[in-house]
Amino acid sequence: MSQVLQSQYSGQRVDTGSKWYTLFQKGVELGTWNVEKLFEEIGFEQDRESWQRLSQNERDQIRYLISGFLDGEREVAGDAATNLQRIMGAPCLDGNTEKEMYMTMLTLTEHKHTQFLDVYMQEVMDDRDNYNDLDPRRGARIPVVQATGLGEVFEHQGLLTAKAANTLDPVDIAKAATNYHLNVEGILARVGASAISRFPERADFPLLNYAFKFVSTDEGRHITHGIELLKELIEKEEAGDPQFQGVKQGIIETLYQDVPYMADFGYMFTDALDDPLELDFNEVLMRGGNLIDGMYNETLGLDVDYMEVLNVVRDRYLEINEWDIKQRVHEQEQHYQRKRGVAADGGI
Ligand SMILES: [Fe+2]
Ligand SMILES: [Fe+2]
Repeated sequence: MSQVLQSQYSGQRVDTGSKWYTLFQKGVELGTWNVEKLFEEIGFEQDRESWQRLSQNERDQIRYLISGFLDGEREVAGDAATNLQRIMGAPCLDGNTEKEMYMTMLTLTEHKHTQFLDVYMQEVMDDRDNYNDLDPRRGARIPVVQATGLGEVFEHQGLLTAKAANTLDPVDIAKAATNYHLNVEGILARVGASAISRFPERADFPLLNYAFKFVSTDEGRHITHGIELLKELIEKEEAGDPQFQGVKQGIIETLYQDVPYMADFGYMFTDALDDPLELDFNEVLMRGGNLIDGMYNETLGLDVDYMEVLNVVRDRYLEINEWDIKQRVHEQEQHYQRKRGVAADGGI
């Protein structure tokens, strides 16, 4: 299989030398795995069998982790198809055509991730968490996501990307890209995927593991896009363009806004549930910290104080340590059940 890294051809409307063109081509070539074919080739049997053999605690931990992914994938797919697609056409960005082309690939893969996880949870686990019927347009979030900070991160993503799509302002675009590409894809998804990659130590989920290899490769391209986009905005700010002043400040602010809620993701599938899969909160925290340092400081050349970030995580940790996660999830489930009752009788 030939991999197009540098096109030998040129066009008039499409810049085949653009890095976004290269990312688009990589998406065309590498992002074409077929979810339905994967279901046919690997099948659900082994994953179902492994699921049945787990203890209730282990199932809860896996279900929470996969739930975060399912809701996250649906949110990123929706925002990519609408807000991000529009942002790529912003007059303040260069190479709009190639960026718009690339965004179609990003959107396609996010919809495939949603497709895989939605069917997987239904076919392998059970549908206990599915309250999609309560919001037919976008679906109601899964209880554990809605009841924790993970829902806050996704809410923030919707607000920031919608604002940037509306104003097309460079600082708003920087904030949206930071939340979406660095915090959600670059930290939450990568930390989550590395936890999933450790499942084989406890149970054999061949379908899940195979699919996540594809998901992680796709996400790698999405993160590259986000980093390159932010680099472009930072370069213009540093070159003194008045319109771009405040980009770096906006990026750092968005990190600090999201960090406490991202910390919940580590917490809810570790200590709070006795960590039956031994994913180890400290390891999760360390991995998240390294990713922040690598992306924000090393790659983007910003000056994020790692200790300050850890303090924000610690404060949040002390706060949510008081929570009874299972009780919060239960309350959210009850809330949904009541809404279901109202929906069924038309609210009379
Ligand atoms: Fe994704
Ligand atoms: Fe993604």
